[in-house]
Amino acid sequence: MELPFAESWKIKMVEPLRKSTREEREQWIKEADYNLFQLKSDQVYIDCLTDSGTGAMSDRQWAAMMMGDESYAGSSSFFMLKDTICRITGFEYVIPTHQGRAAENVLFSHLVTAGAIVPGNSHFDTTKGHIESRKAFAVDCTVDEAKDTQLEVPFKGNVDPAKLEKVLAENAEKVPFIIVTITNNTAGGQPVSMQNLREVRAIADKYGKRVIYDSARFVENAYFIRTREEGYGEKTIKEICKEMFSYADGMTMSSKKDGLVNMGGFIATRHEDWYEGAKRFCIPFEGYLTYGGMNGRDMAALAVGLDENTELDNIETRIRQVQYLAARLDEFGIPYQRPVGGHAIFVDADKVLDQIPKEEFPAQTLAIELYLEAGIRGCEIGYILADRDPVTRENRFGGLDLLRLCIARRVYTNNHMDVIAVALKNVFDRRHEITRGVKIVWETELMRHFTVKLERL
Ligand code: F0G
Repeated sequence: MELPFAESWKIKMVEPLRKSTREEREQWIKEADYNLFQLKSDQVYIDCLTDSGTGAMSDRQWAAMMMGDESYAGSSSFFMLKDTICRITGFEYVIPTHQGRAAENVLFSHLVTAGAIVPGNSHFDTTKGHIESRKAFAVDCTVDEAKDTQLEVPFKGNVDPAKLEKVLAENAEKVPFIIVTITNNTAGGQPVSMQNLREVRAIADKYGKRVIYDSARFVENAYFIRTREEGYGEKTIKEICKEMFSYADGMTMSSKKDGLVNMGGFIATRHEDWYEGAKRFCIPFEGYLTYGGMNGRDMAALAVGLDENTELDNIETRIRQVQYLAARLDEFGIPYQRPVGGHAIFVDADKVLDQIPKEEFPAQTLAIELYLEAGIRGCEIGYILADRDPVTRENRFGGLDLLRLCIARRVYTNNHMDVIAVALKNVFDRRHEITRGVKIVWETELMRHFTVKLERL
């Protein structure tokens, strides 16, 4: 008999979890104005809000922290980090930053000017924010397949080469670079194929443009290439990463995801001119060049984390857990963005609560119901998050309305996955009784989802 799959690590330190009663949760969610960001973490049993900065570090990472060099300039931890990044990506210029959006801020301060057009595949909110706040435009060139949650295609995160080519053919002079997000978070943690990365490179070369990877989950992307794309099944994760980055000119990184640390980010590039340009903004925004917003010990932990996560055992354990949860949801017939991506399940709330009108925010309603059911905190990636149209001030109902359930790295066991699956099933089974959603009673103009106040109808 074949041995079952199990985690590639064992547990050395634990953190107690607190369960709660439904009555307590009803009180807490009301006090939080039905906004899950406003809950205190001890009011949550299983936290699936994000996989960002929520992972568990290994004993090797904690050991590295003790060796961190806190020198203001020339920290040996920086050089350890730089060497690791160079070995994994091939990029020799590295600027640390305090997190991913800070890397965007520093690099885009050099590259993005008013009127610029930055094509890519579903730019992440902060990426888009840093483009739009400079009065430039983020043009989404994601493949259309990403919009159909029930379609099973292996690389739903891809850039549509025809859409990209069109942007360049019409406006090449306005494009400072192309950005490819690996994996594509907004489309559901969906991977981008090596073939697609090569196509993007070819189009970029044709128009003399450079390519940046938003690399927050680049290792998850490499794992999907290994398991889904022909010719990569025998390659190591590090070999695949090296090839992926060979088609890019630089990267921005949120180390809080595939870097396996709780805080941190960086910019890396092969071009001296980009490095020189970004340097000017790193010093005033983030700090001196050999720490850029990070502690020496955190850079040391990140170096080890990057090395550790680009080993097959570790990344396979991670993805297999997300796939385990997806398989449980399949048993119950719960619709989510298929096939499941790398870091989360994106439940298709429009399909679950199909009698709730868009104006009453089905995904947010589902998030509240799941919290009430079992103290599980997910995150609405839908109509509330989409904000209003800046011109008409109407809600934007054009996209998908999803409930994202992120899985933290090396934190929960498959027993917790079972709790999530069954809690969701219980809500799913009584979906026809849930006929009303929520209404907004207070909101901000931008990024309203963090602070929005809601009432149940
Ligand atoms: N790019 C991607 C693809 C991301 O998912 C994130 C963050 C960032 C950039 C920004 O990085 O948070 O370190 O500043 N995503 C988190 C999430 C917040 O929950 O998906 P950051």
